[in-house]
Amino acid sequence: MFAGNADIGKQLRTTMTKYKFRKPVIADAPAITGLINHFAEKRIMLPRAVADVWERIRDFTICELKGRVIGCVAAPVLWEDMLEIRSLAVIESAQKMGIGRRLVEFCLQDARMLGIPRVLALTYKPDFFRRFGFQECEKETLPRKVWKDCIYCPLFPKCGETAVVLDLEAISAKSRSC
Ligand SMILES: CC(C)(COP(=O)(O)OP(=O)(O)OC[C@H]1O[C@@H](n2cnc3c(N)ncnc32)[C@H](O)[C@@H]1OP(=O)(O)O)[C@@H](O)C(=O)NCCC(=O)NCCS
Repeated sequence: MFAGNADIGKQLRTTMTKYKFRKPVIADAPAITGLINHFAEKRIMLPRAVADVWERIRDFTICELKGRVIGCVAAPVLWEDMLEIRSLAVIESAQKMGIGRRLVEFCLQDARMLGIPRVLALTYKPDFFRRFGFQECEKETLPRKVWKDCIYCPLFPKCGETAVVLDLEAISAKSRSC
């Protein structure tokens, strides 16, 4: 289990304890890396080096409880028409409390604010993303992602992740017609 994880769930369940979402500072990078690599060791996320997190620090949003990083997500712009949700993680004892959902919503809000119509995730948890309206797609239909990032991954081409895409314009059109 992630070090010092034991009583986080208990703290979160008490009404006195509040977690907050914020943009990270560079000093948060080791904690973010630790959280991602905790799940990478279990082979449910791809590993990251702390230098990758430094480089991408502006893309991250974190969830913090009493100075401790308990959740994170990154939302890099992939191309003019696509934003990616990457490195989404919530420590085990804080899962199923709505933190993952909020982190995804921050990314979707980012995409809307930037005027980017589609959001991509490569994931081992496609069912989680389907809840937001993401739909599965073939990685071959995402050549920019594959040739920009995937080819540098040690698990390429057999990472086993599923590609899912959310079309924000289609969702807006649907809600306007309701
Ligand atoms: C996937 C993950 C980020 C979800 O975080 P979370 O904080 O537990 O998610 P939430 O509590 O916000 O759940 C939101 C909804 O998704 C559902 N959900 C949570 N995990 C799910 C999963 N693995 N599959 C399907 N649905 C899931 C919840 O039941 C909830 O449904 P509801 O809105 O009907 O109540 C978390 O389980 C995690 O960090 N897993 C390990 C790392 C990982 O697999 N990352 C995935 C991205 S590559």
